[in-house]
Amino acid sequence: MPELACLNGEFGPIASAKVSVNDRGFQFADSVYEVVVAYDGRPFRMTEHLDRLQRSLSLCDMPMDVGELGLASLVTEGIARSGFDATLVYVQITRGVQDRNHLYRDDLTPTVLLTFREKQPVNPDWLRDGVRVMTATDERWALCEIKATGLLANALAKKRAVRAGYQDAVLVSPEGFVRECTASNIFAICGGRLITPTADESILHGVTRQYVLECAASVDVPSEERPMTVDELRSSDEVFISSTTMNILQVTRVDDREIGNGGAGPVTRSLQEAFRRGISQPGQVV
Ligand code: PDD
Repeated sequence: MPELACLNGEFGPIASAKVSVNDRGFQFADSVYEVVVAYDGRPFRMTEHLDRLQRSLSLCDMPMDVGELGLASLVTEGIARSGFDATLVYVQITRGVQDRNHLYRDDLTPTVLLTFREKQPVNPDWLRDGVRVMTATDERWALCEIKATGLLANALAKKRAVRAGYQDAVLVSPEGFVRECTASNIFAICGGRLITPTADESILHGVTRQYVLECAASVDVPSEERPMTVDELRSSDEVFISSTTMNILQVTRVDDREIGNGGAGPVTRSLQEAFRRGISQPGQVV
């Protein structure tokens, strides 16, 4: 099966897709993106991903219309052409090509890149044993609700966590409030209640996060979106992270603190089951 790119409307092998060194995405990380997964050829919650992309574009002063760019049909076409059972689709839009200048022109043609790769299964060791996360001060910019491709602070935090023997970092505000992980949202379960940090500008408003909250409602787990301290996270009964690429993955250690007894706790398991049931329902996929 081929891994494909679609660059400015032209489909071809990923290795053949080329962008200019003057692309503002390369020069300034002046670009936004989305990640969508398709199961059996059907993208999961594509409307929500494209709505978030539209919001990212607007917040970055990129006056483009996702509908006019025809992204939904390009995503569908690329998934069909690549033919994987599970496809990972990246949609990246840069402001366009311009001689290097902080001041961007208003008449640029955006660069629109989609890639279609086979989605790899989540590491089976992580599914069985959960992941260990390390708290770290969030060094990112102030507008993390924008899904921007400038992810250097995320990459550095992840690397430091891995070097220290963890799988990921939980990014924490200077005041000690939990935000999210480097590429996922975070949830805690305390006394049977599901808690996740408020969706403000300091975190990405995860499509999976929203879906997890809906799953919780469907299995009668009460949920709260509110500020959460590091102490609260470390002393909770269960912790998990959520993202398009991992769905729900249990966390079994926060810093030096064991969470639960090594596997997914009962509430996490019931949410994982509700999540799986939902994915296989036609209404969840576009
Ligand atoms: N990352 N927070 C951050 C910082 C993320 O990068 C992501 C997703 C999430 C979860 O969002 P969603 O549920 O919509 O995938 C939260 C993707 C998977 C990535 O960058 O590859």
